[in-house]
Amino acid sequence: MLTSLVMMELSLNFPTEVVKEGKTHVVVPKLEAYVEEAWEYAPSRAPVFYNPAMELNRDVAVLALQTYQRTVGKEISVCEPLTGCGVRGIRFATEVEHIRKVVVNDINPKAANLAKLNAERNSLAERVLVTNEDANLLLSRYAAPRKRFDFIDVDPFGSPAPYLDSAVRALRDGGLLALTATDMAPLCGVHPKACVRKYGGKPLRTGYSHELAVRLLVGGLTMTAAKHGIGVEVVFSHSTDHYIRAYAVVHRGARQADNSVLNMGYVLHCFTCFHREVSKGIFLPWKRECAECGSRLNVAGPLWLGKIFDKEFCVQMEGEVAGRNLGQKKKILRLLSLVKNEAEAPITYYAIGKICDKLNLRIPRLIKTMDELREAGFQAVPTHFNSRGIRTDAPAKTVKEIITRLAA
Ligand SMILES: C[S@@+](CC[C@H](N)C(=O)[O-])C[C@H]1O[C@@H](n2cnc3c(N)ncnc32)[C@H](O)[C@@H]1O
Ligand SMILES: [Zn+2]
Repeated sequence: MLTSLVMMELSLNFPTEVVKEGKTHVVVPKLEAYVEEAWEYAPSRAPVFYNPAMELNRDVAVLALQTYQRTVGKEISVCEPLTGCGVRGIRFATEVEHIRKVVVNDINPKAANLAKLNAERNSLAERVLVTNEDANLLLSRYAAPRKRFDFIDVDPFGSPAPYLDSAVRALRDGGLLALTATDMAPLCGVHPKACVRKYGGKPLRTGYSHELAVRLLVGGLTMTAAKHGIGVEVVFSHSTDHYIRAYAVVHRGARQADNSVLNMGYVLHCFTCFHREVSKGIFLPWKRECAECGSRLNVAGPLWLGKIFDKEFCVQMEGEVAGRNLGQKKKILRLLSLVKNEAEAPITYYAIGKICDKLNLRIPRLIKTMDELREAGFQAVPTHFNSRGIRTDAPAKTVKEIITRLAA
């Protein structure tokens, strides 16, 4: 007689295969069955979404969730409202200690079926609840005080903006929210109107637009949470490949919300000389002249000017890597080490490659450039946002002088 598991596999009715991520085995659509040409993007052609390129994103989420769980020191509840085949939520249940329950959901019935099969294959039917409805409806049903989650991971197609209201409402006081945004064209200033529409802030195509993207995403979250009397505290963020990711702890209370809003403001940038400065507050400063060359400054924002990484949280995430079987371990350790070092460095970075392009200079070695900046009395650290980026408190003029000298 066929077991219910085999019956479920047979009822899927589309080509599948088993993959391993972390220590979890899951059934996913067999991606090569859905592409005819090499350039076609298989994950969105398959009947259920699975993107192997997002494994690092999920690995980091496992590390962040375990770090968070150890900080709160109790059993926690988790929700993944846009789950696809269920791999992320199922990994949380199998790879993170002290997870009481995980609710995974997808609007696509085939995805919900596959997620259910994956939960059963991993013997998680008791702890993983699979639902099939709109993410906002699901989250709204968990918005009442004793029903709320400790952790919600919003990992959608494109922008998480449509889910922010219901996600913050469904988080308990002190809960952790993770957001993925893949809509980099709006966030990095290629489609500025779309960015204003979704995140309430204007982007700018500077050499550090990926950092601005994280700050715009967190800014959108801050203003959404503030409406509900909730403040935010960012503990980790990263920009990898074609997406950005932010992890924020939420604090309920009007005072907490007001304090978060105080972190909103603008980044002012000079496209003539690379000078940049920040202006806190929700009102744009009327004086918009570059302090270094007198040109008119361009504006990004309103966006989040507060911390986008917490050093201690990064150190603890690093500690969680040991003993885990992560496919991208080396890349993750490098990411965590870079983020840890830039956590307390100045806002924005100088993209040395872009500056050299504009000044028509050979690109000097990053290490040498940072040494020279430090010898001149400034802070200088690399950034994970750009392999040729330097965070420093030196003025643009000094950065250019050092680059020009080294390139000569
Ligand atoms: C990027 S995929 C999720 C990938 C998954 N989080 C992972 O790590 O593999 C986005 C998913 O959201 C689902 N989706 C889209 N709109 C939705 C909605 N309004 N409510 C619930 N799920 C939705 C899609 O069917 C798709 O499976
Ligand atoms: Zn200037």
